[in-house]
Amino acid sequence: MVRIGILGAGFIGQMHALTFKTASMSSWQPKIKTTLKMIADQNEGLASQLAERYEFERTSTDWHEAATSPDIDLFVNAGPNHLHAAPSIAAAEAGKAVFCEKPLAGTADEAYALWKAVQKTGVVNLCAFMHRSIPSLNLARQMIQAGELGEIRHFRSRFLLNMLDGGPLSWRFDKTKAGLGALGDLGSHHVDQARFLVGELASVTAMMGTWSKDSAGMITNVNDDAFVCAGRFENGATASFEASRVAAAHNLGGFIEVDGTKRSIAFHMERLNELVIYEPGRGPRVQMTTQADHPYSDFWLPIGIQGQHPLGWNECFAHQARHMLEAVVAGKSVAPRATFEDGYRVAETVEAIARSAESGRVEKITFRS
Ligand SMILES: NC(=O)c1ccc[n+]([C@@H]2O[C@H](COP(=O)([O-])OP(=O)(O)OC[C@H]3O[C@@H](n4cnc5c(N)ncnc54)[C@H](O)[C@@H]3O)[C@@H](O)[C@H]2O)c1
Repeated sequence: MVRIGILGAGFIGQMHALTFKTASMSSWQPKIKTTLKMIADQNEGLASQLAERYEFERTSTDWHEAATSPDIDLFVNAGPNHLHAAPSIAAAEAGKAVFCEKPLAGTADEAYALWKAVQKTGVVNLCAFMHRSIPSLNLARQMIQAGELGEIRHFRSRFLLNMLDGGPLSWRFDKTKAGLGALGDLGSHHVDQARFLVGELASVTAMMGTWSKDSAGMITNVNDDAFVCAGRFENGATASFEASRVAAAHNLGGFIEVDGTKRSIAFHMERLNELVIYEPGRGPRVQMTTQADHPYSDFWLPIGIQGQHPLGWNECFAHQARHMLEAVVAGKSVAPRATFEDGYRVAETVEAIARSAESGRVEKITFRS
């Protein structure tokens, strides 16, 4: 039984409430039961709504209670970016396993301090780069690691959506509360996925753009709305990234492609049960990633004469929750899911991208140990 405390009853806190509950119903063994003990949010009404909907035992307006109460084993930090460090450190120092949303922090310095403070306690930790729990991208990684793509030459990605609804801007647009904008929020996912599939980036060059203005006049230091970046991996492969939160007609377009000397693969978030595989002389073919021998195919139901049912974004969060629960019960690292060290390395990389956009120069990426 893993007893869970969550900070943040907002968008993603609700997803974690749902999926940490349902992950305990996976067919994977051993069975790991969960209890939603506490939801903490400064918005008392929202916390109470979640408590009723997802059956939390109690609510609080004080995050310390979710992070440090004696009856909590696992602290889930689904607060805004500026609240990732202090509550996660408090929970780790109280001996709790810590699951923290991405980006790990608003700056590389803060992410480094957070990683180091949590590492010192020895608790299990996970930074929620959820792409690492998508079946198609796991299959892509297996193929790359087995050499099926040959030597990797190129990685490219686009992450496009619309975060404007005509109202005042949210905390995500505020440099003080969020850190970077499209780069930190969306780009961090794809930088982590580039690392998951290909390896560490060595240098980057980039441009950023900002158009948004807060109609309420509250946010005066609006962060980046979009960025484009070219990069080189330590292994010599080239990379390109683009992300925008002001691409008005895109609901959530996430595209990732990797080219090797033998094959290429492509993934579209809107078709997440598919991996497109390109073979020389044959062009693309679509591989469904729900068959019995594919990652997560037996997560909920046995595969058999009932067919192979598609999975969605919720399920991918449940996969991620299950990986965390397994690590907590076994007291082991969540790798190859993202640890806080991965969260720090992504923060260092996105900061180099932002530096390059400012300096106009190619920036080298160096990591602290
Ligand atoms: N992994 C993903 O795919 C994914 C998707 C969306 C969001 N996120 C991340 O999740 C985090 C939260 O994003 P969100 O979209 O849920 O934001 P949100 O604004 O919907 O929710 C944040 C919640 O935190 C609460 N809060 C703020 N300050 C607080 C305080 N001092 N004490 C207690 N509660 C406080 C707010 O009242 C709000 O309910 C961010 O870091 C974001 O980057 C990740």
